Order: sequence, then C-alpha cells, then structure tokens
Amino acid sequence: MTEPIKQLRELVDQSERIVFFGGAGVSTESGIPDFRSTGGLYHQEWKYPPEEILSHTFYKSNPEEFFRFYRAKMLAPDARPNAAHRKLAEWERQGKLTAVITQNIDGLHQAAGSRNVLELHGSVHRNHCERCGKFYALDEILHTQGVPRCSCGGIIKPDVVLYEEGLDQDVLQAAVRALMEADMLIIGGTSLNVYPAAGLISYYRGDRLVLINKSPVGRDLDARLVITDPIGQVFSQL
Ligand code: OAD
Repeated sequence: MTEPIKQLRELVDQSERIVFFGGAGVSTESGIPDFRSTGGLYHQEWKYPPEEILSHTFYKSNPEEFFRFYRAKMLAPDARPNAAHRKLAEWERQGKLTAVITQNIDGLHQAAGSRNVLELHGSVHRNHCERCGKFYALDEILHTQGVPRCSCGGIIKPDVVLYEEGLDQDVLQAAVRALMEADMLIIGGTSLNVYPAAGLISYYRGDRLVLINKSPVGRDLDARLVITDPIGQVFSQL
C-alpha cells in the first residue's frame, strides 16, 4: 500500500461523520466525460459553446438544439458505478459517512446504494412537464425523440440545474448542515470552479480535509492530504 493510501485509510478510520463532496471526475472511470479536462465536454466542438447550451436562456429559446445536446452528451444510461461510488455507499451503510454532496446529475451514487445523496445540480432521473407538472422517469425520456412532450402537450424539462437557474434551497441547506457536522471532508473529482456549489465547502470546519483530484483545483484548500490519482483507483485500495 502506498503512503498516501495508508494516510487516507488512517483518517477514514478515525472518522465517524465523513462527508464526500464530488463532481464529474467521480464518474469519468464509469465512462462519463467530465467538463473541463482536455477530453471534457467543454473542449468538444459543437454548434454553440456547451456552457451556452446548458443555460436557461438557451433552453427556452432553442429547445431543439438543447435536447440534441442533452441527449447526446448528458445522458449515459448504460454507465455503472465505479469503486468510488461503491465505497462511499459502503461507508454510509457502516454508519461512517453521513452524506454525499454531488454536482453530478447521473444518479450513479444512488445506483451504488448511497441514500443520502444531495444533488446540487439535480438529476437526469427526474423530469417534469412544464405545464402540468407530471413526472417522467429517465426511461420514458429515452423513448422519446427531439423535444420531449407530455401527454398534455407541455415540454418535459429535466430536473437539472442550468446556468442562470437557482439551486434547490432544501438541498443547499442539507448540504450546509452535513458539512458543518462533518468530522472529515473528502473532496474529489471536481475542479471547484462552479459556484455556489464550490463555495459550500467553506462550511466544513474540521481538520481532516482530503482532496483526490487529478489536476489542481480552482481554490486554495487547507488539505491534510492531496492525492492526484484517479479516484476510482484510490477507493478500490481502501
Ligand atoms: P469539471 O470537469 O470542472 O472538473 C472535474 C475534475 O475532476 C477535473 O479537475 C479533473 O482533473 C478531475 N478528474 C477527472 N477524472 C478524474 C478521476 N478519475 N479521478 C480524480 N479526478 C478526476 O467538473 P465539475 O467540477 O463537476 O454544472 O464541474 C462542475 C459543474 O460544471 C458541473 O456540475 C456542471 C458544469 O458546468 C452544470 O451543468 C450546472
């Protein structure tokens, strides 16, 4: 076992209220590209910049193009949890981890068995008609083409937070509470570039902060331990 993995294990062993805060890098080893890495979504050629497509204004003005992008790039129904998702779920079952706070919308933490998953940016698994509010599961969206329409004629909007849209207040509050009560915070697979999500980690007050990220992040962290290996590989050794 390498020294960083040994240190990480020791910190985990000493903790009882671990919170994990993650992003797209947690799912890259499940085959879902992240946003800002070289092979990431924001470096791909598309008719419009992906950040623009993923905005509320764009969704409203050009839903056809939005859903073309969304179906091609945001949905990965065949992706399966990797060792990081699985270990976090195991820690929760063991009573060591209180919450997973994620910016991901892929539902892989729940697929691995995690229960308290605070999805800051929503989920592709929940979809609602904008007109009548009817719920649609991901499977139903996958069986439609183009702009998905409800039986009432309204557009079915995925419950994902687009740029210019606010975050769910209940989810935010639960995340703040979990972070304030945490005795260890593991941040992984996120560039910490997107606010308000990235700002939440300031609510953690403990001294067991671990960062597991392949590249440097967008803010200064007073981390006890920094690991730059792929997060799935790291968790598979724990
Ligand atoms: P980013 O793409 O900005 O950052 C992902 C980070 O994960 C990068 O720093 C990578 O180096 C790192 N990474 C990739 N694979 C990894 C691996 N296997 N192990 C460890 N690290 C790895 O993704 P997020 O920070 O999640 O928001 O982006 C935040 C938000 O920006 C997303 O939720 C999305 C996007 O715009 C919305 O769509 C609202």
